[in-house]
Order: sequence, then structure tokens, then C-alpha cells
Amino acid sequence: MKFANRMNQFGEGVFSRLAVMRKNRLAQGKEVYDLSIGAPNIPPTKRIMEVMAEAVMKPANYVYAINDTQQLLEAVAQWYKRRYDVELNPETEICSLLGSQDGLSHIALSILDPGNVMLVPDPCYPIFADGPRIAGAELYYMPLQKENDYVIQLQDIPEEIARKAKFMLVSYPNNPTAAMAPESFYHEVVAFAKKYDIIVLHDNAYSELVFDGQSCGSFLSIPGAMEVGVEFNSLSKTYGLAGARIGFCVGNKEVVGMLKTLKSNMDYGMFLPIQAAAVEALTGNQAVVAETRAAYEHRRDVLCDGLIEAGWHMEKPAGTMFVWAPIPDSYQDSESFVADLLDKTGVLVTPGSAFGPSGEGYVRMALVQSEDTMKKIVEAVAVSGIFDK
Ligand SMILES: Cc1ncc(COP(=O)(O)O)c(C=O)c1O
Repeated sequence: MKFANRMNQFGEGVFSRLAVMRKNRLAQGKEVYDLSIGAPNIPPTKRIMEVMAEAVMKPANYVYAINDTQQLLEAVAQWYKRRYDVELNPETEICSLLGSQDGLSHIALSILDPGNVMLVPDPCYPIFADGPRIAGAELYYMPLQKENDYVIQLQDIPEEIARKAKFMLVSYPNNPTAAMAPESFYHEVVAFAKKYDIIVLHDNAYSELVFDGQSCGSFLSIPGAMEVGVEFNSLSKTYGLAGARIGFCVGNKEVVGMLKTLKSNMDYGMFLPIQAAAVEALTGNQAVVAETRAAYEHRRDVLCDGLIEAGWHMEKPAGTMFVWAPIPDSYQDSESFVADLLDKTGVLVTPGSAFGPSGEGYVRMALVQSEDTMKKIVEAVAVSGIFDK
């Protein structure tokens, strides 16, 4: 059999390797505290589940949806107006996604031809780079460095790259570094995109997971942003709907339109009961958003305060569901630290190198365990002596 050359760039993923390490340890009858995959584990409200369940029982809801329902489009528009004071035209400026992963993997196909240049952050959430790779694009990595608070330095992008670039992806609150970007950064992005005629995608997946009484805005509220790009958001974390696969792409109507056209040839729309659940999530009681945020914030406090006390020097994240922590100097690389940490403590984390070359020297921990488990993790790390001061 002969397969596509493009498959050569996809080896066994890091999460498969971590899963094997986990399995081997469990087979030895030992405990594993898994902080590796960022799979949200806070369920949706009962009301959201009821709305979905009622819709599931209606035979009429088993047709191809083809399009987004008017209710869903209006619910997204209202949410953007209420949350960010951004006006969206439901007909032309909104497109649902089967999870933002769907959009992230496909949007590059609607913008980039093979060989075109795409600007992606490094480190980044893997599909940010894999989507453009599938499209055959050439990637230019924009490093996220601690000394710049992990904010992309647009002035460091060489002029000839900027001129060639067609598409750029930015995302704060950021996975994996958990960094936030100041509003001034987004003004710079708009000016940069206009100067070099680059389409911008801002992934705002963690917009509702910002802690310590702070909040973040929308890229689209920056003057000029609607002219240059789009924003993605997701109901996975905010409303606990990860498995239902609901996200949306909003903003510039040409970009939204191209993605809609591509998707209309690929999928036949989102299952109608899921659209109904999304409408309930976006328009129903929003207390759940603050509750979810508080749950992640408490987990962060228990984990980070405890690990810092145990001698692990790290910064507490201001948002997202991740902690980005440096590995101790005594380790050569993040993979060897991950293996040793698992061996000595049972704590499984993701090596920073999995997110791109600039991720080396760090690990990412996902806040996906309960507060009680976080306490056990802290205890396991403290007694292991790995970070003895
Ligand atoms: C930055 C970022 N964008 C998108 C996604 C995917 O979200 P969804 O569940 O909507 O596909 C994730 C999931 O972890 C993420 O971290």
C-alpha cells in the first residue's frame, strides 16, 4: 500500500508515549497522578444536559443539520455582545465548529496553498502547527520567551518573512505557557497584519478561565481587527462540553465565509441536539462560568502553592487550565525529567518539547485533577526530594 507523503510528518504523538508510561506504571500496581492531557473534567450543568436529552428524543433532530440554526447564530452573537461588546452579523460573521479543533485543523486549508508562509507561536498547542502542515504550508515560528512574558515579539519577525506570510495564529490566554497578553499587543497585531496583508486567527479558548478577579477581552474588540481576522472560542472548558464538540469562528466575513464553504463540503453540520445544548449554554444561567473558573483557580492554588513550598520554582498562572514550570537545572531535557518525575512521584506531566522547540526546559501540568488529588501530588513531590532546596 502507498500512503500520502504528508503522513510522514505525523509520528507517534507524545500523548501516546505518555499513555504507555502510564500503563506500565499502573501494571506495576503503582499510583499515577495524570496531569498530562488537558481534558476538562467538569461536567455541564444539569439544565444543559436536559436540553440536549430532550432534543435527542425528537426524531426530527436526526436529519443532517447542514447549517447552524438561527437560534445558535443569535446565541453566539448575543454572547459576544454581552461578554465583549462586539457586534456580529449572525448571517455572515459566525460559523460553528465541531470543536475549535475542527476549525484549527481546517482553516489553514482555506487560506494557505502549499509553500505559503504561516506564522505560528513556539511553543504552541500542537494543531496550531499541524493544521498548516497538513495544508503544506511553510511554518515560521514566533518564539514565546520568559524574558518577554511569553508575548510574541512582532518586531523580531524578519521583514522578508513578514512580507511572504499569509496567515498568522496568536492565542492568549496561552496554552501551554499560560501567559496573558496586554491589550497593546493586539493593537500591534492589527497594525502588523494590515501592513503586511496577513490574515489573523486569535484562538481565545481560555477567555473565561482568567483568575484573581482579572478578565481578558476579545481580539475583535480591537479597532481594525474585524478587517484582518477571526477569533475562535470553544464551549469545551467554559461550559464543560468538551466531548460534545462545540466551538465557533467569528469575525471577518470573508474568512468566516471561506471556512464555511470548505466545511460545507466536508461535514454536514453539527448534530441538532448539540446545537440546542450550545444555545442553552450560551444564553442560560451564566453562574456556571464563575463556578468553573473558581474550581480551576482553587486547583491552581493548591498545586502551585504546594509545589513552590516543596521547592519547585515556578510562576502561578494568571489563567488557562495549565501550569508551565521550568525543569530543574540537573536535568538534560524535559523528557528525561518527565520520566524521572513519574518514577519518583507517580506524577505524569507533558514535556515542554512536545509543544515546539522553545518549549524545551519546561513541563506543562494540566489542572485536571480534584483539589484532593492535587494535595496528594504536592505531598508525593515534597517527599520525593526532587526539589530539595
Ligand atoms: C488553545 C486551545 N485551542 C483549542 C483547543 C481545542 O478545543 P475544542 O475542544 O474546542 O476543540 C484546545 C484544547 O485543549 C486548546 O488548548
